[in-house]
Amino acid sequence: MTDPQKHLLLVDDERPLREAIAERLGDHGFQVAQADSGETALERLAEFAFDIVVTDLRLPGIDGRQVLDAAIERYPDIIAIVITGFGTVKDAVEAIKQGAADFITKPFQFDALLHVLRSALEQRRLRSENAYLRSQLEERFRIDGIVGHSRAMRDLYQMLETVAATSSTVLITGETGTGKELAARAIHHASPRRAQRFLALNCSAIPETLLEAELFGHVRGAFTGAVGTRQGKLEQAHKGTLFLDEVGTMSPALQSKLLRVLQEREFERVGDSHPIRIDVRIIAATHSDLQQMVADGSFREDLFYRLNVIPIALPPLRERREDVPLLVRHFAEKLSRDVTPGRPPVTMSQEAMRCLMAYDWPGNVRQLENAVERALALSPGRSQIEVSDLPAEVQQAPDRPGDTREAFPEGGVDFEAHVREVELALITRALERTGGNKRQAAKLLNLKRTTLIEKLKRLERP
Ligand SMILES: Nc1ncnc2c1ncn2[C@@H]1O[C@H](COP(=O)(O)OP(=O)(O)OP(=O)(O)O)[C@@H](O)[C@H]1O
Ligand SMILES: [Mg+2]
Repeated sequence: MTDPQKHLLLVDDERPLREAIAERLGDHGFQVAQADSGETALERLAEFAFDIVVTDLRLPGIDGRQVLDAAIERYPDIIAIVITGFGTVKDAVEAIKQGAADFITKPFQFDALLHVLRSALEQRRLRSENAYLRSQLEERFRIDGIVGHSRAMRDLYQMLETVAATSSTVLITGETGTGKELAARAIHHASPRRAQRFLALNCSAIPETLLEAELFGHVRGAFTGAVGTRQGKLEQAHKGTLFLDEVGTMSPALQSKLLRVLQEREFERVGDSHPIRIDVRIIAATHSDLQQMVADGSFREDLFYRLNVIPIALPPLRERREDVPLLVRHFAEKLSRDVTPGRPPVTMSQEAMRCLMAYDWPGNVRQLENAVERALALSPGRSQIEVSDLPAEVQQAPDRPGDTREAFPEGGVDFEAHVREVELALITRALERTGGNKRQAAKLLNLKRTTLIEKLKRLERP
């Protein structure tokens, strides 16, 4: 093989055969990972964007057809080859219908497999993209514009649906860019309140006095500049949903006023003493740790419990890397539709996809969206995005599967050496992130600073 090395996942439960093929494929320049069962294959596919999957159709438990399904569903561009038993042409035909590129019948000569692989690679290189199939696949895993089919996201959909049926207060937490506002909107749109308004108020964006007036409204002359009487967001959202973003930044005075709203569903406009009753569902969001703020005394404990009736925590993207391919496709399609209408669908090379899946995304989905937008802008007229179109910090592809989660090598491991390697890698990355600041790095690693220093000393010794 010339070009960059192709990553191939070989799935077969017959160990001697699998190992022999893997070795010879390795000799021909393929980077081979092995799976001895359908279950293992699905795990490998979830964590790494292989170029090629070669799977035996007949496997105990999860069979080759399910592996094929999972592979194609996640990576429409993957090349799938199935191995069928002698005299089972029907299975082979089914597999091709299902999206396999080709099949090979057992027993086979290694050269025959090599030939099948090479022609599939060549075909793939020449074939244009099947955008229709892709958009259909994507549709299946989307609720109200929320994309993702990782365990965490599927749990989230379930949660959103359950919560939507109630009027309970919800507290959404998550790092920046994890989709807190998107989730809040999804709850509203799935709720019986959907025909009423969804209003959003960002508590950190405006000064305190204005925020109070925004929230509760005011009467004429309530403060300098209050020339007329105005309804606040709470009143405007009557029967609907009010999204209070960054509640953690509210002043103590406003916190107690909000508490009263939550307890009594009642408030007064600024400068007025006439109580107003409302029926508003509150969804609050924060990227800060409110529990910690309660402990520090900067957030009211009683308000925290009133808000935290139903907590929803959005996981950072690096904890659900398997959602990256779907999100990338979603953004590539959305952006080429909105920004450059008429541009044919754009795909990622699998190598670029590996980079995207390996990166840690501190800015989460928003940062990924920006990276896709940038890549589209840098690749006008091309139908494929390459590694060089990605932001510099994203360009480091893992050079083998299991970089994100270690696979267990066939021949066993040197435990001590391995653990040392993992420790060193984690500490190095934490230090890189904090510009060498050990105290902050220790915090990121959930270690005492002294423990980190001790470990560093030990690791630096040969
Ligand atoms: N699961 C997802 N599927 C599709 N798009 C998503 C998803 N999560 C986030 N996004 C998109 O990412 C961007 C950021 O999402 P959102 O504004 O909801 O994040 P946030 O958690 O409120 O961030 P911040 O804390 O910075 O306000 C939006 O453009 C949103 O549409
Ligand atoms: Mg937000």
